[in-house]
Amino acid sequence: MTPAMKPGVKRVGILISGRGSNMVALLEGMRAGEIPAEPAVVVSNDPGAAGLAKARAYGVATAVVPQQEFKGKGRQAHDEAVAAELDRHGVEIVCLAGYMRILSPWFVERYHGRLLNIHPALLPSFPGLHGAKQALDHGVRVTGCTVHFVDAQVDHGPIVAQAAVAVQPGDTEETLASRILEQEHRVYPLALRLLAEGRLTIEGHRVAVAGEEPGFPQAVISPDPGDPLASR
Ligand code: GRF
Repeated sequence: MTPAMKPGVKRVGILISGRGSNMVALLEGMRAGEIPAEPAVVVSNDPGAAGLAKARAYGVATAVVPQQEFKGKGRQAHDEAVAAELDRHGVEIVCLAGYMRILSPWFVERYHGRLLNIHPALLPSFPGLHGAKQALDHGVRVTGCTVHFVDAQVDHGPIVAQAAVAVQPGDTEETLASRILEQEHRVYPLALRLLAEGRLTIEGHRVAVAGEEPGFPQAVISPDPGDPLASR
C-alpha cells in the first residue's frame, strides 16, 4: 500500500550505515519546510547504526535489512529487500547518507534520476573511502564535498551540487573532515530541495538546474596569506 501523499510533496527514503549526521540535516531541512518533501523511512544495512535512534527521535519510520542475512545470495537480493521497504513506505526519492554498501546495477537503474549520494571530496577527485585523508595526502589546497546522482560506478554520477573547503595549515584528517562535514550539511538539503522541486535535468554527465542564476563567489583561493594578489 502506498501511503497517502500530499500533492507535490515527495516521499524520501534515506539509507544509512552509521551516525547519520547528513540524514539529520535532511530531516531538519524537511521539517523546516524548506524542501517540498517528507521523510518516509530510514533504512540501514547495519542494525547497530547510531542514526536509527536519531531517525526515530524525529518520528521517522525505520527499517533494518541486515546484510549478514544475505551472505552468499548476491548484492541484488539485499537491494531488493531494501527496495521492498522503500516501496512499503511509498518512497519516490532515495538519499544515500553514509550508506556503506555498493549498490547493484538493478537498484541504480530502478531509482535512476531519483537517487542521490553525498561524498566528502570534490568529485571526480578522491572517490572511495577517506576523502579528506586522500585530499591531505595529495596536497590539494582546496577540497570539499559533492552531491551527485548515483550511477553504476562508485562516487561517479552526474554532479548536482558542490561546496569548496580550503585546506588549512596544520589540518589533520579529522579537522578537515569536520569542516567538510559542515558543508555537507548545507549542500545535501539544497540538492534534495532542487530535486524535489523538479528543477534538475540530467544531460549526459551534467545536471542542468532550472532557475540557476549566475552570481556565485568567483573563487576560493588557498593559500591566502592576506596577499593582495590572492584577494583582488
Ligand atoms: C559523510 O562524510 C558522507 O559524505 C559519506 O559518509 C559520511 C557519512 O556521515 N558518504 P554521516 O553518517 O552522515 O554523519
